[in-house]
Amino acid sequence: MDSYPAKLFSALVDQIEMGIVVLDADLCIQGWNDYISQRSGSDLEGAIGRPFIEVFPSTDSESFAGMVDMARKRGKHIYNHWLQRAPLVRLNPKEEGDKQPLQSTLFFPFEESSGQRSYGLVMYDTSTVAQSNKYLDAALTALANEQHEQTQLLHQLETASSQLLQSEKLAAIGQLAAGVAHEINNPIGYVFSNLNSLSGYVNDLLKIIDAVDEVGSLDELRQIKRSLEYDYIRSDVGELISESEDGLDRVKRIIGALKDFSYIDEEEFRPADLHRGLETTLNVVNNELKYKAEVVKEYGELPELECILSQVNQVVMNLLVNAAHAIEQFGRITLRTGCDQTYVWFEVEDSGAGIDPKVLNRIFEPFFTTKPVGKGTGLGLALSYNIVQKHNGRIEVRSEAGAGATFRVYLPIFQPSKKPLPGTPK
Ligand SMILES: Nc1ncnc2c1ncn2[C@@H]1O[C@H](COP(=O)(O)OP(=O)(O)OP(=O)(O)O)[C@@H](O)[C@H]1O
Ligand SMILES: [Mg+2]
Repeated sequence: MDSYPAKLFSALVDQIEMGIVVLDADLCIQGWNDYISQRSGSDLEGAIGRPFIEVFPSTDSESFAGMVDMARKRGKHIYNHWLQRAPLVRLNPKEEGDKQPLQSTLFFPFEESSGQRSYGLVMYDTSTVAQSNKYLDAALTALANEQHEQTQLLHQLETASSQLLQSEKLAAIGQLAAGVAHEINNPIGYVFSNLNSLSGYVNDLLKIIDAVDEVGSLDELRQIKRSLEYDYIRSDVGELISESEDGLDRVKRIIGALKDFSYIDEEEFRPADLHRGLETTLNVVNNELKYKAEVVKEYGELPELECILSQVNQVVMNLLVNAAHAIEQFGRITLRTGCDQTYVWFEVEDSGAGIDPKVLNRIFEPFFTTKPVGKGTGLGLALSYNIVQKHNGRIEVRSEAGAGATFRVYLPIFQPSKKPLPGTPK
């Protein structure tokens, strides 16, 4: 032990912040380093040759016996981590509670050069590791809590969103129903009041006719005619009837548009040629367009589109008619088409009055119209929006007041699910 490396080694062992004890085969102390002397305040000289448990009576003898037993049987290191158990030895029993360093121990057999079996016991303080472990544990717990909270929030969000969707649907149905009631109420109201007036008139007319058999002279009949205001009845009847016809026509149009809403699910998606659809629709609305605009076509090359063509035509028609209505005298309507990998699009651009930015976010609402009473039902765009949504597409609108409007509709070339929609006839 006197060679230079041996001295170096012994200096190291005395400097190191760990307790090292060497025991013989009978677990009696052979030596220890300075750390043990300092911590325990015991003198090595007086301890040599005495059993370890006797020198350190605070030893957890059961654990110690267990470690020794395993080390003997396995001939290997036995390691005790501070997390698993209390310190094996309280080197300084005066250090109470918190002051006691957390201790990990290593117990291992080895053979001396003479071939004699000895044991090494290493004790080291793991308080710092424990401290950082505590932080880590706290961080992990916080993280787990956070995750739990997030999961809960996500769950709440899902519930809320499905409730919202439900209530939005209900609100839309409610809005539609309220709108229908309001829109129908007015024409029905005046048709009803006209019928009332007409029934009064019919009564008076019957009185005049009945009088033919009762009166003695033509003059008397004329007198009755005058008293019942026959001339007024005559002039008013025509107006009442044509006004009532208009009212009923309006109700019919609203009912027709509502039917279109409900028919959306009842046809099948089929590959179709959009350009053919556009041409058909242009023919249908030609009468409305020809006096209002020159129609310019800028068609791109399109693949077949999986759609319900009659419904797409309906959208095109609504957009074309709106475009024509937006033009005051004579203007231009441009019908464009194009596509990318996923979508086919068509757009209707007009040189009309444009849309006031204040109402731009309302134009798709059912019954929203800026047209004079009796001219628009305000269902065209709402219906179109509905159809485009059923096609998993979208409508974009660009407009500046006074500078015309452009409506562009994107429709997916293939529908996400090929299954027939609910309500589709077999
Ligand atoms: N091309 C357009 N230019 C200017 N305004 C438009 C255009 N298209 C739609 N709008 C505005 O959007 C409103 C709603 O249009 P929508 O087609 O839904 O109803 P409407 O045309 O008024 O009535 P309906 O189509 O039921 O006869 C219109 O009243 C109009 O104010
Ligand atoms: Mg319209």
